[in-house]
Amino acid sequence: MTTAERAKEPLITDDWRVSSRIYRDPTIFARELSRVFGRTWVFVAHESEIPTGGDYKTAYIGRQPLIVNRAADDGAINVMFNRCRHRGSAVCQREFGNANFFRCAYHGWTYNSAGELVGVPFDDGYGPDFDKAAMGLVHVPRAESYRGFVFVSLDPSIEPLADYLGNARRYLDFIADIGVSGPELVSHAHKLVYRGNWKLQIENTIDPYHFSFTHKSWLDILKDRTGKSSPWVKNVRTNPDWRGIDLGGGHAVHEYGRLEQAGENAHAIGIGELIPFNLNIFPSLAFVGAHLRLVVPRSVDETWVYLYPLLPKDADEHVRDRILRDHEIFYGPAGFGSTDDIEVGFDRVMRGIEGSASPADWTLMSRGLDREVVDEAAGIRIGRSSDEVPQRAYLRRWLGLMEDCDE
Ligand code: FES
Ligand code: FE
Repeated sequence: MTTAERAKEPLITDDWRVSSRIYRDPTIFARELSRVFGRTWVFVAHESEIPTGGDYKTAYIGRQPLIVNRAADDGAINVMFNRCRHRGSAVCQREFGNANFFRCAYHGWTYNSAGELVGVPFDDGYGPDFDKAAMGLVHVPRAESYRGFVFVSLDPSIEPLADYLGNARRYLDFIADIGVSGPELVSHAHKLVYRGNWKLQIENTIDPYHFSFTHKSWLDILKDRTGKSSPWVKNVRTNPDWRGIDLGGGHAVHEYGRLEQAGENAHAIGIGELIPFNLNIFPSLAFVGAHLRLVVPRSVDETWVYLYPLLPKDADEHVRDRILRDHEIFYGPAGFGSTDDIEVGFDRVMRGIEGSASPADWTLMSRGLDREVVDEAAGIRIGRSSDEVPQRAYLRRWLGLMEDCDE
């Protein structure tokens, strides 16, 4: 098959063969930035990261650089493009901090925390028509907060955030209600970078199928420590309450037991089990164990992942320490888990799918297709723990956006 013929092949077939082009083709990546990241609600911050006036963080929607801050005067949350109105320099360099003003380092233009241009050095150079008021930092078209989680959209006509979240709201509510007064992200994030496509991380986030193979060394360590095997494999294979659910809208969840019985169904893999499910919110937000995970696409083969431990606001120091240590041991820079996923789930996949001359230049995402249960009324599909229901959930929405001709 020639390259031209291959380009005409469907990206995803009815029997869920997924073209490997979606992970390595720069033209598809460019389209994703406008079709996926340009038309959805994208998480950028939790309000606890910017609790007081002047607090800010830098963030991204796709590759668009942003400043998210709490205005010094009225406490309003602003989300603005992090690009100077003079000659385009990124105005703010730090990942978080507190500032009443942002001064561009290039020629000194200065903006207040609401983004208004308040200072132009040597401002006699622009003539009488120069409208300073129209030259502030540009705010993103839409920004909304749901229970403390701040999302933004580049699409001015997008549906309200609460509607967009749909069936995922129930799970986000559970997280917002952690402890007595919810979680906070005060320990900030640690960031990992891998040389692979961003969608590989999304697919890996709800994938109980891989755990006992990719993370076998971790399960062995646990067995040495506790003297008994983890019930993980048995649960993945036979526990009817361990289920992957397509929530509609690209969102998906894997429940480790029914939500109503949370706390009774610890999955016992020692990675911080604050949340009794893994949750993907389309396109780039996830929750796993005891952390919030944010996926930032940089290029077709470079991805940044931010992991923010979730700490119950009212928990004592001992509980917060335990959450952080559990998180670190699996996900931290020297942990036992993230390194496995980067090597096996991302690096090796990217290397394998360079085999584009293979007549089978696709991956298979059909696991459990013939046994998933569709609940039309609720708008959900339910599968077994090891089925690829969550992966199909996000790919179904992804494909709908990518193929939408309304541009
Ligand atoms: Fe910012 Fe010139 S680019 S002041
Ligand atoms: Fe993993």
